[in-house]
Formats: sequence, C-alpha cells, structure tokens
Amino acid sequence: MPKRSQSSQRWLARQKRDGFTKAARREGRVSRAYFKLAQMDERFSLVQAHHWVLELGAAPGGWTLYLTERVTQGRIIAVDPSPLSVSGSRVAPITARFGEATANRRIEAVLAESSRASAVDLVLSDMAPNISGVRATDQAAALALADLAAAAAAKWLAAGGGLVVKLMQGDGCDAWVQSARPDFDQFTLVKPAASRAGSREAYAVALGYRRSNSWPEADR
Ligand SMILES: C[S@@+](CC[C@H](N)C(=O)[O-])C[C@H]1O[C@@H](n2cnc3c(N)ncnc32)[C@H](O)[C@@H]1O
Repeated sequence: MPKRSQSSQRWLARQKRDGFTKAARREGRVSRAYFKLAQMDERFSLVQAHHWVLELGAAPGGWTLYLTERVTQGRIIAVDPSPLSVSGSRVAPITARFGEATANRRIEAVLAESSRASAVDLVLSDMAPNISGVRATDQAAALALADLAAAAAAKWLAAGGGLVVKLMQGDGCDAWVQSARPDFDQFTLVKPAASRAGSREAYAVALGYRRSNSWPEADR
C-alpha cells in the first residue's frame, strides 16, 4: 500500500476526531456536509416539499441526501463532475462541470420536463475548487465558482427564490457579497456549526430573489 503523506495523515486523524464526520458515518449521511445544509435549512426554512432545486457541487451527495428527505414533490438537479453516491426518483444527476456548455444543456433538458412557468426555487452551491495551497490562487478559484452560482441564479432562479453559495472568507469575499446582496430581500453570511471552525468557509444565504423579468424561452 502506498505511504500516506504527513498532511493526508493529519487530515485523516482530524476526520476521525471530528464529531460531525463521526455522526455522518454512524447515521449514513454520506458526508458531514449533510449537517451544514440541515442547519441552514433549520434556521432559514430553505427547502419545501414541492421545490425544484439546482444543486451545484453535489458529490459525494450529503446535501443531495438531505434534499431527498425533504423534496417529495419537486426535483433535485444535482451537478458535479464527480459521481454522486445518492440516487432517488426525485434526483436528476448531471455528471458534468458547471460552467461548461454540456452542463447547461443537460440542466435545460431536465427543466424542459417541467410544466411550470418558472424554473427553480432554490440554487445551492457547495462547489469548491481543488486546493493548490497557494492562498491567492485558491481564493480566486473559489470566487470564480461563487460567480458561476450567481450566474445560475440569474439564469434559472424564480422570483422570490433562494440562493445558497459557499464562499471562502478573504480577499474579494466582501465585494462578492456587496454585489449579490441587492438582488435579494434578505441576505446573511453564515457559518453553520458543522463547518470546521478553523476553515475560512462560510455560506451566503440569500432569500427573496428580486427577479424583474420572467423567462423568454430564448434567454433560458
Ligand atoms: C465540498 S464538495 C461538495 C460536497 C457536497 N455538497 C456534499 O454534500 O457531499 C465540493 C464539490 O464541488 C465540485 N465542483 C468543483 N467545481 C465544480 C463545477 N464547476 N461544477 C460542479 N461541481 C464542481 C467538486 O467536484 C466537489 O465534489
């Protein structure tokens, strides 16, 4: 068996110590991320049974699993280049990188099955870049993914809908928040208890999307 690097040994040891990671394994929740969405939902009442949800950065599937427990009439469009370990009749998995044309085409194909006038009720993004270790590079990559999530909302989120976006606190984060905030009635930056205390991770939770137009078919 190949020897693990010291940093991966440290990561594994931390995972074993971590209460949310242990609970996720014990309770079959796929990943500790399950609890992050559960905690944000408990605070903000994000997810309704009839919701159509666009979930970006879905693998391995902690959030998707949580959504399958809540969404009993709507649909979960779960996008990630890595495969999901969660399935279900309400889940439309899209194995693709959001931002690439294939992903958009496949999202549109799922939405076309809907007879609803509007598109999705929630856009959730837990997308994270591969970490290079160079802080400025990683921060720029994280912000680029947050921009993609905001662009997904501009394209598909219904008026009054919600957006949750993973952010890394640091350079550019405040500016991102300032540019996104005016599009929503309510905007909060949160760090759920299940998010590691030492990490720069935070989530923008934005509710009441102020969409001024509906979707002319050609623009979707
Ligand atoms: C922190 S993990 C997500 C964990 C997931 N929410 C869960 O509950 O299991 C970050 C994910 O973002 C995905 N990702 C990164 N860039 C992406 C992109 N452009 N489109 C879709 N997913 C992306 C990665 O493949 C990775 O699976």
